[in-house]
Amino acid sequence: MNLEENFQQKVDDEIKIEPKDWMPEKYRQTLIRQISQHAHSEIVGMLPEGNWITRAPSLRRKAILIAKVQDEAGHGLYLYSAAETLGISRDEMYDQLHTGKAKYSSIFNYPTLTWADIGAIGWLVDGAAILNQIPLCRTSFGPYARAMVRVCKEESFHQRQGFELLLTLSQGTEAQKKMCQDAINRWWWPSLMMFGPNDDASPHTAQSMKWKIKRFTNDELRQKFIDMIAEQVKVLNMTLPDDELKWNEERKHYDFGKINWEEFWQVVGGNGPCNKQRLDARKNAWADGEWVREAATAYAEKKLAKQTTNAA
Ligand code: 3HC
Repeated sequence: MNLEENFQQKVDDEIKIEPKDWMPEKYRQTLIRQISQHAHSEIVGMLPEGNWITRAPSLRRKAILIAKVQDEAGHGLYLYSAAETLGISRDEMYDQLHTGKAKYSSIFNYPTLTWADIGAIGWLVDGAAILNQIPLCRTSFGPYARAMVRVCKEESFHQRQGFELLLTLSQGTEAQKKMCQDAINRWWWPSLMMFGPNDDASPHTAQSMKWKIKRFTNDELRQKFIDMIAEQVKVLNMTLPDDELKWNEERKHYDFGKINWEEFWQVVGGNGPCNKQRLDARKNAWADGEWVREAATAYAEKKLAKQTTNAA
């Protein structure tokens, strides 16, 4: 067997690929692309929710939201570290994000207009993220799979707190019920887009399935998500904004309406409602943090110089 065949055999035998193992360059590049963009999504994803920390309706809600946003920062750091094991530096990844070369999840380019949006993000966005991330706990690249185990434990708290927030609103005043339904209406279709384009329009899925980077295709995970949420929304006594959503006994799945892929590619292409705001926030944070990076580097260099002198 040649190197490539040996590699594929390891993947087929469910042997984790570790950073120092031989791997096809395309496998490495696919992982750098996916893991770094996943990390960018976590960091940019902090922005829409961070917008409501100072306006949370109670100390309890504020504490929950602060904990969740902090978790997302931690997820980003795990994932940047996992990507670094493949030979890309943190600065290169940030540069790719800031220059628009790298993507982050389309969902974070939508505005959070009311407090109910925070519930809709937890329930729908983190709910979609969980469905997409649980299989990644079994992805073929070791550091990615191990990072995902910790991330998924925290994601389930994120989803539950979002659902509980909406449940509270759905049992509240007419105005609160209206706010809850409005948020679900605005976040439903963009949440379905999180799973990526249809399988037949996805340039990466087939190869990622062969390399067991992905364990399910985009459409399979999207369908799982729709089937799950179509049941949960009944508990909220709310509806999903899709007249074609109907249980199909034959398929044993929900049929659903057409996704607006034109909107999806517009948002992915940088023309969503908040793309500029999100990228500006990240670029400003990078610029504002320069003095911290310089101070930490100066301290590390001084410490190293001292250790070298002592050792001499
Ligand atoms: N937003 C932005 N770009 C997207 C996208 C989305 N929702 N879905 C797909 N794309 C991009 C892909 O990155 C790819 O572009 P590229 O070649 O320039 O990278 C192109 O569209 C084609 O899509 P594919 O489906 O062929 O690409 P993938 O095989 O990479 O699948 C994916 C896309 C399903 C997002 C996959 O990359 C993945 O599973 N990533 C890991 C999970 C992740 O990143 N989730 C994003 C949300 S994280 C999150 O929600 C945090 C939570 O705490 C809230």
